[in-house]
Amino acid sequence: AKPNLAPTPPMGWNSWNTFHCDINENLIKQTADAMVSSGMAAAGYKYVNIDDCWMARQRDGAGRLQPDPVRFPGGIKAIADYVHARGLKLGIYSSAGSHTCQGLPASLYHETTDAQTWASWGVDLLKYDNCGQQDGIPAQTRYKRMADALQASGRDILYSICEWGQNQPWLWAAETGGHMWRTTGDIENNWSSVVGLLDQQVGLEQYSGPNAWNDPDMLEVGNSGLTYGESRAHMSLWAILNAPLIAGNDLRSMPASTRDLLTDPDVLAVNQDWAGRQGAKLRDDGDLEVWSKKLSDGSAAVVLFNRGSSPATIGTTAAALGLPAASAYAVKDLWSNTTKASTGAVRAQVPSHDAVMFRVTPGASAELAPMVLVEATPEKP
Ligand code: DGJ
Repeated sequence: AKPNLAPTPPMGWNSWNTFHCDINENLIKQTADAMVSSGMAAAGYKYVNIDDCWMARQRDGAGRLQPDPVRFPGGIKAIADYVHARGLKLGIYSSAGSHTCQGLPASLYHETTDAQTWASWGVDLLKYDNCGQQDGIPAQTRYKRMADALQASGRDILYSICEWGQNQPWLWAAETGGHMWRTTGDIENNWSSVVGLLDQQVGLEQYSGPNAWNDPDMLEVGNSGLTYGESRAHMSLWAILNAPLIAGNDLRSMPASTRDLLTDPDVLAVNQDWAGRQGAKLRDDGDLEVWSKKLSDGSAAVVLFNRGSSPATIGTTAAALGLPAASAYAVKDLWSNTTKASTGAVRAQVPSHDAVMFRVTPGASAELAPMVLVEATPEKP
């Protein structure tokens, strides 16, 4: 049976978004160190994932994948030991075809051998891509073969299915053994990519749940193609979508502002909370959107998202969020950490390409200052 490795959305880091094939064992070890020293590990990030390009061009004499001798001269087992010694977990990558997307040997017809190899190294997660020749074998069959091999390997290995949403994996990937599945093609280091992926999540809410997460792809938070506000919006939206939170920036050199976006405890608590359904778009009004999610303590999270090019006021109400009637609600702004009282309206002025994220809880102590409600959308500058 599928091991219970992802009761909440997995959190970690992956080498691809920043480093592509420019990876090596020092990068992975330094990243593990940075994950601990930055506070990310304490915030819940666990997986250090090596993406494409870790393997040598040839299998060894026994038919096993072997690490690239230049990039990983000490081998993968030594890295797994290093990562485990820091309380973290190691992820690895292959593809359900003859080759990876970068033309290196991959795992179709080698599922049992490769799963056993990774298990013997102490690997904890497999991201399984969809490149290479596949002899017309359906995706579900190819992904199931690896699921069975992982489950027979004797080690608990989280299975991340990466077929880019091409075969509606939300309909079969969970029962095929996947803990998460990509719903789209690749994220890129720019705003239109982030917004385009977001739009493709609408309607998938019903398919996610414990050990079965929709994956709108890894984070670009803190990367050069996004402004601070865009990174904040990206983080807010991926959090409310119950997306796996796999950082894709250089953890070794990130500024405190990026670390704070990745580790905000209130935002992560929304992501990790499961009350029956992932967050969903409640309303949109052109470029102004309201996303919401019920939380297990009876409160609701809301993201007021402005994808347009001018600042705007975005609002909703406690009733629209599905909250019970109450004489007052406590409205916590999760990024600024301030809590105000409201009789039901939830509004904010949201800068262009940015988001405001609230947690709205029925009942508010009398000491809370009232929320100042911005009334009108300001004129375009
Ligand atoms: C395609 C995947 O979608 C990416 O996330 C990355 O793993 C690359 N392949 C690596 O080649």
